Amino acid sequence: MSFKIPDGAVWVILGAQWGDEGKGKIVDLLSENADIVVRYQGGSNAGHTVSFDGKTYILHLLPSGIFHQNVTCVIGNGVVIDPIALMDEIEMVKSAGVDIKGRLLISHNAHLIMPYHKLLDKIYDQGEDKIGTTGRGIGPAYVDKYARVGIKVVDLLDREILCRKLRKNIEAKNEILEKIYGTTKLDVEKIIDEYIEFDKKIDEFVTDTALYLNNAIKGKKKILLEGAQGALLDIDHGTYPFVTSSNPTAGGASTGSGIPPTKINGVIGVIKAYTTRVGEGPFPTELKDEIGDHIREKGFEFGATTGRPRRCGWLDIVSLKYSIMINGIDKLALTKIDVLSELDEIKICVSYEINGKKLKNFPTNPEALSKVTPIYETLRGWKKDLSNISSYSELPAEAKEFVEAIEFFTGIEISIISIGADRKQTILK
Ligand code: GDP
Ligand code: IMO
Ligand code: MG
Repeated sequence: MSFKIPDGAVWVILGAQWGDEGKGKIVDLLSENADIVVRYQGGSNAGHTVSFDGKTYILHLLPSGIFHQNVTCVIGNGVVIDPIALMDEIEMVKSAGVDIKGRLLISHNAHLIMPYHKLLDKIYDQGEDKIGTTGRGIGPAYVDKYARVGIKVVDLLDREILCRKLRKNIEAKNEILEKIYGTTKLDVEKIIDEYIEFDKKIDEFVTDTALYLNNAIKGKKKILLEGAQGALLDIDHGTYPFVTSSNPTAGGASTGSGIPPTKINGVIGVIKAYTTRVGEGPFPTELKDEIGDHIREKGFEFGATTGRPRRCGWLDIVSLKYSIMINGIDKLALTKIDVLSELDEIKICVSYEINGKKLKNFPTNPEALSKVTPIYETLRGWKKDLSNISSYSELPAEAKEFVEAIEFFTGIEISIISIGADRKQTILK
């Protein structure tokens, strides 16, 4: 079974909810027929799970095509890279028998996550206004990028520039740490010594990835652009401030890779059969009852990066339609329908009401979103194990009704249905 990608196709594969939709599984699956897979934003806040041959791997920075020897993996300019996390991950895949020589390219323009970013992330994300970040330094690293004081991958290759920039940054951060937060100062020289070491390790991978990708497009290569997080966590289009600090949406695929928007010819939205969210922020269809607990346990809804329990709730068509609009999604990949198998009935939220009035659009403002009442359609459950099914026709009638209801309410075709974590547990429709 394989999913045909046309020659010269450039497809974005992104999360259409609040992250953890199963992007890793879908990207790995499609990579069998791809030439290049590119991560375009986020950093090691992501946790993308790939399962095959009885083994499971969690990727934070490496693109989910890494387990396919035919695929070149690119970490694009839009990603923020924690060199420590990256080196650990490279070792992890190498010890799994993966040969990455000549197959991993890292943008010279990607920004680096420094120890002070991780420290500040934890210091800032406290108290009643906390976001519940992953603590991986993502927000503070993007702050420095946009404040134009960030340190880029290319800076690692020049000792003098690296030392100068690091000293300047650490001095500024030490002021904040000491004077505002009363914590101990960071040791500049120790950090310089540690980061200078990365120069030797990272050198072989660093290149102008935008140039590489545009040449690959000319050569009719098949390219997948892998989003991290999800559309509703987008800094511009998500439920701000309960978002991440980058653009997981389709526009971010272009800016975060250097592939022009005119060259992108498909956007696949990955959705879970229900909704999950990690961290704080409004979640209209959240289930704080035994059904929510059942979904969490059956779906093993615990963060792949932080291990935190994920909040669980019904599928939300209102937010999904918004996500489809913002991203121009033209195909959906539906994951984890097997998790719903034991339920008597399954709900999907088809509209919102506020004070008895129907809302026409998805409000991203958290004050408004926290006030909506979800209006549900109730569908029949199927109560059958789906894990060994290999074609759409074998699905129970009730499961087909569920799939077709999503297609009906969103107006978008579901092309891939995932019925288990393993690469093979997939139905192409
Ligand atoms: P990502 O961040 O979007 O890549 O998703 P995660 O890897 O964080 O979370 C998805 C989880 O669901 C992982 O544990 C996957 O192995 C698992 N998974 C993916 N697809 C399916 C599926 O169809 N059924 C089941 N039961 N698990 C799945
Ligand atoms: P993948 O790629 C789910 C959430 C955090 C928090 C908010 C901000 O595996 O789908 P950050 O550390 O980015 O500043 O945290 O975003 N978050 C994710 N939730 N999946 C992810 O990644 C996430 N990455 C960040 O929980 O609410
Ligand atoms: Mg994840």
